[in-house]
Amino acid sequence: YRNLRIALLGAGSVGSQVARLLLEQGDELAARVGAGLELVGIAVRDVDAPRDTDLPRELFTTDAHTLIQSADIVVELMGGIEPAREYILLAINSGADVVTGNKALLATHGPELFDAAAQVGAQLYYEAAAGGAIPIIRPLRDSLAGDRVRRVMGIVNGTTNFILDRMDTEGDTFEGALATATALGYAEADPTADIEGYDAAQKAAILASLAFHTAVPVEAVYREGITAVTADEVEAAKRAGFVVKLLAICERLTDASTGIEGVTVRVHPALISRLHPLAAVHGAKNAVFVQAEAAGDLMFYGAGAGGLETASAVLGDLVSAARRHVAGGPGVGESTHANLPILGIGAVNTRY
Ligand code: NDP
Ligand code: HSE
Repeated sequence: YRNLRIALLGAGSVGSQVARLLLEQGDELAARVGAGLELVGIAVRDVDAPRDTDLPRELFTTDAHTLIQSADIVVELMGGIEPAREYILLAINSGADVVTGNKALLATHGPELFDAAAQVGAQLYYEAAAGGAIPIIRPLRDSLAGDRVRRVMGIVNGTTNFILDRMDTEGDTFEGALATATALGYAEADPTADIEGYDAAQKAAILASLAFHTAVPVEAVYREGITAVTADEVEAAKRAGFVVKLLAICERLTDASTGIEGVTVRVHPALISRLHPLAAVHGAKNAVFVQAEAAGDLMFYGAGAGGLETASAVLGDLVSAARRHVAGGPGVGESTHANLPILGIGAVNTRY
């Protein structure tokens, strides 16, 4: 069978693991796909930068444009808005399918990228963009496409869950728990996006768009972080049988004042009953609790971050993209046909 040409953009925490697994387990993946997966190059900023894994020096390049134009499938793991956006559009317009884990880009420019892909019949895969290793994009987009989702409630940021969990189980202070999260490598070098809820808001926008077939931009997400949560509040919640969690809550509901049915998406600290499945999510783990009219309650749990764990989701997407190349067919499309109004409701309910 023929080889499919894979271009990788970025070889950081996630990209280096994707490259390693692709090189080490390529034969196994090829058998699953029915075509070879040939890693033809890795675009980075600095070809001589130290890497987490030993990868062949000759694969590295700073010429992303030429690499992208030679590929059947482009895997974008650079992060950030530009040049990731430009590179993904170039890949789509060069006839490639794209795999990305870039939540920041999808939460801000998702519709532009999906439209560009739809126009040329290309496909954009992004299982790693919310919940790291947890399969949640595909279940919302495909498995639940025949149901009506009422609510998605997620712990989608590992750093903040780690901090709140330490405050709850060890009686740690916010500052002490953040220092530990940083030392263990969970928090970003600048943890603002984690602790102020920006990272969770991006993931919430992506999950809500899929759950409600409505494009939800990140600007429409109400957001509060956890910096104001005190040790005393966590202790008081504990005595009352609750645990404090930073939740991303996406709901389809009717605004009581206007009678309009729409969508609300919000990120804020909330009190979770210790009997709720989300209360059992400890450390830096993530979980997404979905309530659908026919399916009832569903829970998705696992590692929300980490290079190797996230590489699992990326490679799953890569296999899907490769199978589509081999078998042909239209793949799956983004559906925003419902276009529900987004209700400007803040933290209406903080107890679950
Ligand atoms: P890193 O910061 O570790 O790595 C980024 C890589 O992209 C580096 O190799 C860097 O090159 C390269 N890069 C950055 N800018 C450019 C550019 N302009 N041109 C060429 N190469 C560039 O990122 P992560 O691996 O942590 O994350 C990658 C993506 O995956 C992000 O979108 C992130 O949000 C997402 N993600 C990450 C998770 C995680 O746990 N880390 C979890 C889920 C999603 P160089 O090495 O030369 O500097
Ligand atoms: N900083 C993020 C987290 C990484 O703590 O969840 C994964 O998106």
